[in-house]
Amino acid sequence: MDSSEFFDFLVSRCSVREFDGREVPDADLSYILDCASTAPSAGNLEAWDVVIVDGQEERDHIADAAYGQEHINRASLLLVVCANYVRSMSRYGDRGILFAIQDATIACTFMMLAAHARRLHTCWVGAFQEEEVREVLDLPAHVRPVAILCLGKGFPSGSYTERMPVVEHVHHQLW
Ligand SMILES: Cc1cc2nc3c(=O)[nH]c(=O)nc-3n(C[C@H](O)[C@H](O)[C@H](O)COP(=O)(O)O)c2cc1C
Repeated sequence: MDSSEFFDFLVSRCSVREFDGREVPDADLSYILDCASTAPSAGNLEAWDVVIVDGQEERDHIADAAYGQEHINRASLLLVVCANYVRSMSRYGDRGILFAIQDATIACTFMMLAAHARRLHTCWVGAFQEEEVREVLDLPAHVRPVAILCLGKGFPSGSYTERMPVVEHVHHQLW
């Protein structure tokens, strides 16, 4: 893949919120998880974990925890990506909290792009009540749910979501 193909690959991804409901093939799921495990992480501690959720009851509860976002129910499965604080804090102390969140975020990004490479669709969901998700999934205290990635074969809208001009992000030398 050359750099222009890479850019096209990125631009052609979009969040999808309508899904056909068919199961995600095991080979695709394995590929997505293998890609996530290539992600960089602080000290290579890989302070992230993922809970694969395909049970209807659990998804109903998670959709409630996410303020009724219906694409959570429409997706074939959910990848609930978590920061594992203990794994990172054991070496980095308080800074490990930030590192674990970053590790989880990068892993989730790799999952999202890996799904795109397999011609599957995703929607990253960040708006949810953590305590409710924690309870539904029986997460231990040292694990924080960071993102819910809705996954499945979906129906992209076909329209590109505009971005602000990149120069507005960029500062030279000083802010
Ligand atoms: C941190 C984060 C939180 C997000 N939370 C939600 C969410 O709760 N619900 C939702 O439908 N989309 C959510 N999104 C998806 C964004 O709305 C979407 O990425 C953005 O509008 C750009 O569109 P695109 O992904 O199609 O390029 C979230 C994305 C990120 C990165």
